[in-house]
Order: sequence, then C-alpha cells, then structure tokens
Amino acid sequence: MIVAAGRAVEGVARMRVFQVEGAWGRDNLRLSERQDPLPGPGEVRLEMRAAALNYRDLLVPEKGYGARMKALPLIVLSDGVGIVDAVGPGVTAPIVGSRACPLFFQSWIDGEPDDERLAHSLGSELDGTMAEFMVLPAAGVAAVPDHLSDAEAATLPTAGVTAWRALVTEGRLRHEARVLVQGTGGVSLFALLFAKLAGAFVVVTSSSDEKLERARALGADAVINYRTTPEWGRKARDLAGGGLDHVIEVGGQGTLPQSLRAVRAGGTISLIGVLAGGTMDARLGLVVTRHVRLQGITVGSAEDFRAMADAIRLAGLRPPIDREYPFEDLHAALDHLAAGRHFGKVVLRHAS
Ligand SMILES: NC(=O)c1ccc[n+]([C@@H]2O[C@H](COP(=O)([O-])OP(=O)(O)OC[C@H]3O[C@@H](n4cnc5c(N)ncnc54)[C@H](OP(=O)(O)O)[C@@H]3O)[C@@H](O)[C@H]2O)c1
Repeated sequence: MIVAAGRAVEGVARMRVFQVEGAWGRDNLRLSERQDPLPGPGEVRLEMRAAALNYRDLLVPEKGYGARMKALPLIVLSDGVGIVDAVGPGVTAPIVGSRACPLFFQSWIDGEPDDERLAHSLGSELDGTMAEFMVLPAAGVAAVPDHLSDAEAATLPTAGVTAWRALVTEGRLRHEARVLVQGTGGVSLFALLFAKLAGAFVVVTSSSDEKLERARALGADAVINYRTTPEWGRKARDLAGGGLDHVIEVGGQGTLPQSLRAVRAGGTISLIGVLAGGTMDARLGLVVTRHVRLQGITVGSAEDFRAMADAIRLAGLRPPIDREYPFEDLHAALDHLAAGRHFGKVVLRHAS
C-alpha cells in the first residue's frame, strides 16, 4: 500500500517536466508531460517545490557531461527540494509531509568515492529535478534545515555539498586557516560561508568590483579583481599575510598557475571546475617541490549532505539567491546563468 497524506495516490495524472527529447541540444529542451510516478517498495515521492541551476546545467542539454548520460528523454537539473507526499511499502523515514532534497549521487551514502558511487547522478545519468514529482529511494533524499526557504534549500545538494566536501570532509579546514575562493558562483559562495563559519581568513577573487563588495558583505576578509590583477596569486599571499592553506579552484587550466603561486607549501588546491580550460598548463614542479595536494572533487555523499545541513541549521546560514524564475521560464533562467552576471544561485519555482 502507498501511504499518502489522507488521500489515495494514483499514478494516472500527468505532470509537467522539462526534458531534452528527440535529440541532444538546447533547442530540444522542452516543457513536456509525463505520467505521475508512484513510489514502489523502499521509495518516496516528492512533490517538488523548487529547483536550482548549476553551471553543469548549461552543458547537459548539449550532451556535455560524460559518456554515461541517460538515453533521451532526460529530465534536467540536479538540485531541488520537495515535500514527501507519498511513501512506498517498508519506508519508515522520511515521513509524509516532511521537506527533503533529492541527493546528487543516489548511490553514494558515505565513505570514499568509487566508480559505482559516482555512477548515478541526477539530471545526467538519472532524470533530474525539473519535474513536478520525483520518485527516489528513501536513502536518496535528505532532510533540510527548517529556517531555509524552498529556494534556499533547493541549492544545497550540488553547490553546497561540493564546497563542504572540499573544505571540510577532504580539506579538514581548521580554525584560522587562510582560504582563497575563486569567483562568486554557487560553489564559491558556499565555500566562503563555510570557511567563515570555521573562522578562516578568506580571500575572494571576481571579475567584478561590484560582486567583490557583495562578497565582503558576506564576510570576505580580502578581495581581488582577477581581471585587473592578473597576478592575483602573489597578491593573495600578500593580503593573507602568507601562503594560502586552501584554494577553491573553479577555473582549471587558466587559473591553476596563479593558484600554485597562492598556495602555501603543504597546502591543498581543491580542483572543482574547469571554467577556464580543462587541460594541465601549470608548473608541475611546484606541486612536487612544495608538497601541494591537488584534490579532485565531485560533489559528495549523503553523509556530507547531513553534516553540512547540521552546520547550516546550527549557524542559521542562508545561501545567497540571485534570482527566482517560474518553472516554465527555465530557458530564461539558463540564459541568465550563461550571461555570468549572477551572484549566488538561480532558482526555479515549481509552484507559487
Ligand atoms: N566538481 C564538482 O563537484 C562540481 C560541483 C559543482 C560545480 N562544479 C564546477 O564548478 C564550476 C563552478 O560551478 P558553479 O555552478 O558554481 O558556477 P556558477 O554559479 O555559474 O559560477 C561561475 C563563476 O565562476 C567564476 N569564474 C569564471 N571564470 C573564472 C575564472 N577564470 N577565474 C575565477 N573565477 C571564474 C565567475 O565569477 P565572477 O562572476 O565573480 O567573476 C562565475 O560567476 C563549474 O566548472 C562547475 O562545472 C563542480
């Protein structure tokens, strides 16, 4: 029997989805319909409230996110939040009526990554969050802090967990560490919030002075415009009073040489994105002789999500939201992200 909030749940209605259909390409990303899904044994159904964009959502419709992507049609986006409105046989938690985020990696519960744990991500290998309903294993969703709005909660699974995994789980961030955060996108602003929570000295870089002022308001201790200061690695050391313990690297090829200047001997560079190129063009000798730890990061586990959510709840943190769009305006939201003028997260509202 499927348990729901005081009503029978029947999978006969149609729900709205945004999916790539027919062939890969942004032109084939369309508002469409599918049958409402029903939860089977061990599964829960979420009535989705909001979804959030990540940079990868610009690449996915063009089949730009790896060889394992699901056959079409593919419902897009990996981040979101919903209300549990039905549970299948055998599910004791979460309960109907509670709010939960679908987890980015559906099979990475805890521990270290491996091929299997990295093989099932939403909005790529599996259908994503741009659907009015989602059915997932009970272990594939996690509770969210009550103080967050739906828009804020929707941003946690990808950008939030990535920053948490980089700085806390892998980075073992310590009090009074020196951290450099590249840019003011979703991952980077979460990293700023988490680093400040740990008591770190944080340097933020950006292409925009106006965004840098906003980063200061969120707690950045020092800021550098990477356009007007191309040698920002040395500048970051000067501003921080020494080499950086940790660099949040989202640029890749174009930024790694400066990150290697900024990082201290024995420090860590978390390689999270390749916005400025995806091949290695850096002095690898510096990695060797200065004992630098180059750590690849790809989101994180359910355990990472729970630890992050606890910290957010206790500290009352709120992720910065740049703009919200109605569900049907996904293309306008993607265009806004692609234009790069955002500061923080771009969100879609499934219901008003
Ligand atoms: N590996 C993972 O687990 C994981 C998870 C999420 C995201 N990512 C990757 O991380 C990157 C950022 O993702 P996101 O969703 O946070 O993107 P986003 O919200 O679209 O933010 C991108 C920001 O990066 C900054 N940027 C662009 N080029 C830069 C450069 N050369 N130097 C410094 N900053 C630069 C810009 O900041 P300003 O506008 O301030 O200049 C821009 O706003 C992407 O490559 C994405 O694929 C990886």
